Amino acid sequence: MHTLRYAPIPASFYADRRDKLAAQLPAGSLVIIHANDIYPTNADGTLAHHQNANLFYLTGIDQEETVLLMRVMDDGSHEDTLLLRETNEHIVIWEGARLTKEMATQLSAIDDVRWTDEYNSLLAEWVPAAKEIWLEQDNHPRRNTYVQTRNARMEAALLAAYPDAKVKCLYDTLAAMRMVKTEEELVQLREACRITGEGFVEVLRSIKPGMGEWEMEGLLSSAYIRRRARKFSFLPIIASGKDTCVLHYISNHKRCEDGDLILFDIGAEYGGYAGDMTRTVPANGKYTPRQKAVYEACLAVHRYAFSIMRPGLKKSEYERLVRVRMAAELVKLGLLTQEEVDAAPENPLCVRKYFMHGTSHSLGIDVHDVGPLDIEFAENQVWTIEPGIYIPAENIGIRIETDVVIHADGAEDLIPNAPLEVADIEALMQ
Ligand code: GLY
Ligand code: MN
Ligand code: MN
Repeated sequence: MHTLRYAPIPASFYADRRDKLAAQLPAGSLVIIHANDIYPTNADGTLAHHQNANLFYLTGIDQEETVLLMRVMDDGSHEDTLLLRETNEHIVIWEGARLTKEMATQLSAIDDVRWTDEYNSLLAEWVPAAKEIWLEQDNHPRRNTYVQTRNARMEAALLAAYPDAKVKCLYDTLAAMRMVKTEEELVQLREACRITGEGFVEVLRSIKPGMGEWEMEGLLSSAYIRRRARKFSFLPIIASGKDTCVLHYISNHKRCEDGDLILFDIGAEYGGYAGDMTRTVPANGKYTPRQKAVYEACLAVHRYAFSIMRPGLKKSEYERLVRVRMAAELVKLGLLTQEEVDAAPENPLCVRKYFMHGTSHSLGIDVHDVGPLDIEFAENQVWTIEPGIYIPAENIGIRIETDVVIHADGAEDLIPNAPLEVADIEALMQ
């Protein structure tokens, strides 16, 4: 047996997830969750397969065309069926082996594994018998609805074939479960974060004025993948000079120059879980006095946000407290006047001129993980902390981001191996 790139989460985790989901659904429920589509590009090209996060969360199966069916019985027990794309010699030769039924059972702890050609006959039997059909409808508050997902397409087909089916949405139930991480998930997240920080430190040592943003991306990709990450957990932002102020800069096509700041918003994906980190460093290894002042203001807000994140605090209240602290720093930097802040000292929305995004988002299988926009912090949730200060007129954009897990007594930094202090960053870059 060859050693694999990473150990999957034990199958008992997935059995446990399905038990917990079934326990929240009424008897007579039928759950249907499909893999994501493989999206076409041009000619015979496709994008890489990216598994549906809820299917992965409930089965551990990272293969296209997979379907999970769960039936909640009258006594509260549930019967789970996994449908897999049938593998054959042609597929084995061209694409490599697909999961056998036995492998799928080992990964997911689902005994009833069948090929997808049984899908329609199973629906014909189970849909009319079900009281409620629970579907994977993605209700993320900021989801992009431009392209229909496979789950949405199958829902439309199901409703056309069974117009009387009573369809319900799984989003809130699964989001509430996914918000709170188990020990098994924290193992994967800790490793994703460890790789994210350690790979960055390796690259930080070699940065020099004149280096291309793409060269740094290439070094990071190597540093992450050599450490067993599967890939970046999102398109990496490596932005120098004025582009440090562009929040979603991803072209990474300039050479950095002496005197520039470089903002790295990067993360490794490990075992299906995402790291997400930002550091902002001087191209030449030494911050100018002004860059240092803005950096230290941002770091003070970062440390403050870290210090107040604890169970029971509401996300909206946390964001308000961070804005109050940010306002004080922006006044010290001469960016806001005290009068501007005093117009609404309890909730100084004027900070948005320089800090226009939220401080934290939940993190897990997805980088911007599931969950309501406002929620109370609770133990074993994983969040980012990422205040920023953006001053385009000065070519200064600084964001400082780490990932934390919340414990009873506060937040634990999951990326303690990447430097935060000016002196530590400058020392590593010498
Ligand atoms: N990397 C995306 C974010 O920080 O939200
Ligand atoms: Mn980020
Ligand atoms: Mn983030």
